[in-house]
Amino acid sequence: MLVDKHGRLADRLRIGLTDRCDLRCTYCMPLHGNVFAPKSDLLSNDEIVRVADFLVKRTGVSRIRLTGGEPLLHPGIEDLVRDLATLDIEDLALTTNAQLLADHAEGLARAGLRRVNISLDTLRPERFDAMARVGRLERTLEGIEAAVEAGLGPVKLNCVVMRGDNDDEVGDLVRYALDRDLELRFLELMSIGEAAAFHSEKYVTSEETRERLAREFAMEDRPFEAGETAHVFGIRNGTRAGSVGFISPVSKPFCTSCRRLRLSGTGVLRGCLMNAAGPDVRAIIRSGDADWEDQLARTVLTAINQKPWLSKMETQVAMHRLGG
Ligand code: 5AD
Ligand code: SF4
Repeated sequence: MLVDKHGRLADRLRIGLTDRCDLRCTYCMPLHGNVFAPKSDLLSNDEIVRVADFLVKRTGVSRIRLTGGEPLLHPGIEDLVRDLATLDIEDLALTTNAQLLADHAEGLARAGLRRVNISLDTLRPERFDAMARVGRLERTLEGIEAAVEAGLGPVKLNCVVMRGDNDDEVGDLVRYALDRDLELRFLELMSIGEAAAFHSEKYVTSEETRERLAREFAMEDRPFEAGETAHVFGIRNGTRAGSVGFISPVSKPFCTSCRRLRLSGTGVLRGCLMNAAGPDVRAIIRSGDADWEDQLARTVLTAINQKPWLSKMETQVAMHRLGG
């Protein structure tokens, strides 16, 4: 089992399959003028499986999450899930905006995907149009239903809270989640990529969101679980009870207990989201070198040792390129 110089494990691998997306969330991507990686620069399914297999067997990765951009835009996503599901891992999950999930949920579940996290910032169509700018809210909501039906649970919903955009809607989102037995998590806006321009204006602390909810719902603090990023509270609305999580990378960075390793669509391995660069895994696996495994082992050490003990949580690189 690999640990970094601060003693942190790196057993949770996030794989960004593509930097493309079918939405244009204001905090993530500009509406026009995006330049995406050419297809030949993206790792193929076989290459991803080779790297993942190596990390599972050699460095102790036990949980894998597929992200993007939007991972459902990756051609052959179901084949990839089928191959990754054969690895000796405890969890195989996917983070999606769910625009295409209604078409894929059943196939993904059959291929061996365990669960999904779905981004849902608003329940109001006109706000969705302002915040996500393309796509349709209706499709995300259909995707959520499809995920539940396909058994891809516990389905978690991620909501980035932004002042003036959706901060007054958090109660409605809680009621929506409680009615469907889904776990909702509120994320603090990070000053990443596009969001840097309006971060100070739109950032809302988890504490403010929690206080707003506490005026409307009975809430009860639950113990913080090691390695988890969300601080979870029990929450009740009349007879409906469930839980709500707060992910606070800005007000309470969780770097010291972070167990993540990230592989971007183009094969850059990062110990931390905030590392602008990282070792190039793609070059190694495309080199044909006989000692590619040793080279890869060294890059993993480089990546985890570039992982800061405490990060400022700011980067110029957008989430859709990092493998959020
Ligand atoms: N700040 C906070 N969350 C973000 N996400 C994307 N960009 C940002 C940002 N700047 C979220 C998405 C998705 C998750 C993977 O990250 O909404 O839910
Ligand atoms: Fe796409 Fe996610 Fe970025 Fe929104 S936040 S544009 S859904 S990658």
